[in-house]
Amino acid sequence: MTAQIISGREIAEAIRAELAEEVRELKESHGMVPGLATVLVGEDPASQMYVGMKNKAGAKLGIHSRQISLPAGTTQDELMGVVAGLNAAPEIHGILVQLPLPEHIDEAAIIEAIDPMKDVDGFHPINVGRMSTDSGTFFASCTPAGIIEMLLRSGHDPAGKQVVVVGRSNIVGRPLASLLLRKGRGGNATVTVAHSRTRDLAAVTRSAEILVVAMGRPESITGDMVAPGAVVIDVGTNRVEDPESEKGYRVCGDVLFDEVVQVASAISPVPGGVGPMTITMLLSNTVKAARLALERGGGGDA
Ligand code: GUN
Repeated sequence: MTAQIISGREIAEAIRAELAEEVRELKESHGMVPGLATVLVGEDPASQMYVGMKNKAGAKLGIHSRQISLPAGTTQDELMGVVAGLNAAPEIHGILVQLPLPEHIDEAAIIEAIDPMKDVDGFHPINVGRMSTDSGTFFASCTPAGIIEMLLRSGHDPAGKQVVVVGRSNIVGRPLASLLLRKGRGGNATVTVAHSRTRDLAAVTRSAEILVVAMGRPESITGDMVAPGAVVIDVGTNRVEDPESEKGYRVCGDVLFDEVVQVASAISPVPGGVGPMTITMLLSNTVKAARLALERGGGGDA
């Protein structure tokens, strides 16, 4: 069997076209431009690259992007002040503080300081709580929301299926399990979360009709760990040494693609799978935040 390739790149493109239309409509009908502020503390090259990609993708859709770059020595109080300023800025509807923050900063306190209705990352405990209780208005964290969209738009609705999530991080595994358990669109799955302490991981992964792997270990899921016909979503992005490549490395997922593609009925590649979806869902949350601000009676003056 050769698997269907679930292209996050193509699905992301389709969603971005829908969002561009929404942004245009918001401007035309309400004079509103959704605004996203990204805050970067320090000079980590990978974080600089991610933040740059987020701003560029936003600008391409017509979202107003403001990037705030602060030195690594920024104090907790100074960063709190920046967040408070963005919370109060009517032209900013979404705030993203790039993680990880320098060690001297209390990350949880910064996340909690962001107005939950501007928390487009979906990391604030109010958003996490509402998502896990499936109640009220919330922003879902971007990578899990992107995975759900990939499944739905490639014809693999998780409703009623056995879904195994490998990894229990706060950014992927836990919020994804919450979304899959919801009663609404993209939910109603039977969910197992496996992790580094799971006994006989292969037996658990083989029980999956849909297997989502976010363990952060390159090419760890092999063909024998996957049930024939399963749908596999690979969240990993790992750099491994590769003397044959010009750069000296290659990017791979947590799934051994060449083996699993022979067993699965559908699989997402790395790169070009989950990665493009994460940024897309951030933009989607920003547009949603702008709409919510509009409903609350503000924000038409950007
Ligand atoms: N660092 C790595 N991924 C993310 C993300 O999705 N959001 C933020 N704010 N920081 C990150």
